Amino acid sequence: MARDRRNARTRALALSVVLLAVGSVALAGSPAPAAGLPRGHDVSSHQKNVDWRKARAKGARFVYVKATESTDYRNPRFGQQYNGAREAGIIRGAYHFALPDRSSGRAQAAYFVRNGGAWSADGWTLPPALDVEYNPYDRKHKCYGLSRARMVGWIRSFSEEVERLTGRRPVIYTTAHWWNTCTGGSGAFAGDHALWVARYGADAGPLPGGWSYWTIWQYDNSGSLPGDQNLFNGSARQLKRFAAGA
Ligand SMILES: *[C@@H]1O[C@H](CO)[C@@H](O)[C@H](O)[C@H]1NC(C)=O
Repeated sequence: MARDRRNARTRALALSVVLLAVGSVALAGSPAPAAGLPRGHDVSSHQKNVDWRKARAKGARFVYVKATESTDYRNPRFGQQYNGAREAGIIRGAYHFALPDRSSGRAQAAYFVRNGGAWSADGWTLPPALDVEYNPYDRKHKCYGLSRARMVGWIRSFSEEVERLTGRRPVIYTTAHWWNTCTGGSGAFAGDHALWVARYGADAGPLPGGWSYWTIWQYDNSGSLPGDQNLFNGSARQLKRFAAGA
């Protein structure tokens, strides 16, 4: 989900090569929209100014908007996207793209919360999300050069700081392959972190180590809503409750 920053084309290509190499490019096509589950999407500056009324009309009930990356990038479209979604009646939240080789989890969390990653219990704000996945800048170091233990520590430190500043644990966005490779399939987060799993195909497949179910599933990188396509595991009411932290 980091493809909006620099050298977008090069990195998109590199990322596809990595994905192909690990065999996680599933067959194209969306899942038969699992019987009425709330549909959502996620956007970054790549989607530019989104027509939120149109997205709502096409079925968007929730959206994650990219806020930050590392401690030196803010999505220049964040305000339009985050506030526009809310005005159109879409529950929205912010996500941070982790670059764990650049600075501590705590520093990145603080930067994120200062720049859009805040949370409130208004029922319209999803918990802040941490996007931790393949290194888009150096595909040979997909775990950013961190050992599994240090990666787990980095994620823990990010989570602690987000929790301290916002009162919520972050949602963790990842893929099963990245998580199992780079954290060793750590089960340390499943108990108190909702899973947002990325897997393009007809089902969510085997989940990353630790989790027994997904809360959000990113099932395609394109579709009828702007950006990546997602589903929420629950009813519209449960989505509202999830946002409110109830
Ligand atoms: C949806 O969430 C419930 C728990 O709230 C879980 O029992 C169920 O397995 C989940 N479904 C999927 C497809 O992950």
